[in-house]
Amino acid sequence: MSLLVTQGLTKQFGELRAVDRVDFTVRPAEVLALIGSNGAGKTTLVNLISGLFPPDAGTIHFLGVDVTAQTVHDRIKAGIARSFQLVNLFDQLSALDNVALSIFSRGDKTRKLFALAASDRAVWEEGFEILKTFGLEAKAGVLAGGLSQGERKLLDVAVAYALRPKLLFLDEPTSGVSTREKAPIMDTVTSIVRSEGISAAIIEHDMDVVFRYSDRIVVMHQGAILADGSPEEIRSNATVTATLIGTATGA
Ligand SMILES: Nc1ncnc2c1ncn2[C@@H]1O[C@H](COP(=O)(O)OP(=O)(O)O)[C@@H](O)[C@H]1O
Ligand SMILES: [Mg+2]
Repeated sequence: MSLLVTQGLTKQFGELRAVDRVDFTVRPAEVLALIGSNGAGKTTLVNLISGLFPPDAGTIHFLGVDVTAQTVHDRIKAGIARSFQLVNLFDQLSALDNVALSIFSRGDKTRKLFALAASDRAVWEEGFEILKTFGLEAKAGVLAGGLSQGERKLLDVAVAYALRPKLLFLDEPTSGVSTREKAPIMDTVTSIVRSEGISAAIIEHDMDVVFRYSDRIVVMHQGAILADGSPEEIRSNATVTATLIGTATGA
């Protein structure tokens, strides 16, 4: 059974078809890499699935339910969360505040403020536990703006994880960090999702990271899916190698 299924998903920006009739699936408890050169449509596909804007055609089913017309908030409640290519943190708030805000936002939007206040303690405790899980507990009181780039990327994932998703999209979780910092970030993130049975779909340019950490690789090119297979299959796929791998690593 698939966790997520898109059928014929299409998004047009003027003349440009950024996502072109995409049939994309994510299975339960898999770590999937979504690759492709700059402009291939990866972020747009994630934007459509997370509900940032509507598709021009096609459907999105999550756990068998058609979520194509659902709001972002409803999709988060259903279990779809995502991080952003450029981190989406409140720099003037502490690391713990950033995670706590995410936990708060999980609640019903109409919940009364006093009810939120009453649950404060539980929220801070949960937030601290999440920071611990990500190895960021020593940074709990540090303003997000004062963290290193690697810590910021991890915190951004922690904020999405705090929504307690079943499916987590990570848009370039290691972009902008040094080569040395990439493995620790990926080790942390993949061990968390694997131990909890969360599916992760990770957009990543570094092919060493892609081959090392993913169970399955989906390759996008000019808005469409070019290939879908195991790391071994993708590595030996001549079309993929010729079309993408040279450009993807340089992107
Ligand atoms: N909001 C937008 N408005 C217009 N064009 C966009 C928008 N978002 C993305 N695009 C275009 O769609 C194409 C796919 O972009 P994107 O999904 O960001 O690619 P990727 O994440 O694979 O690098 C690119 O040509 C990009 O310029
Ligand atoms: Mg992108």
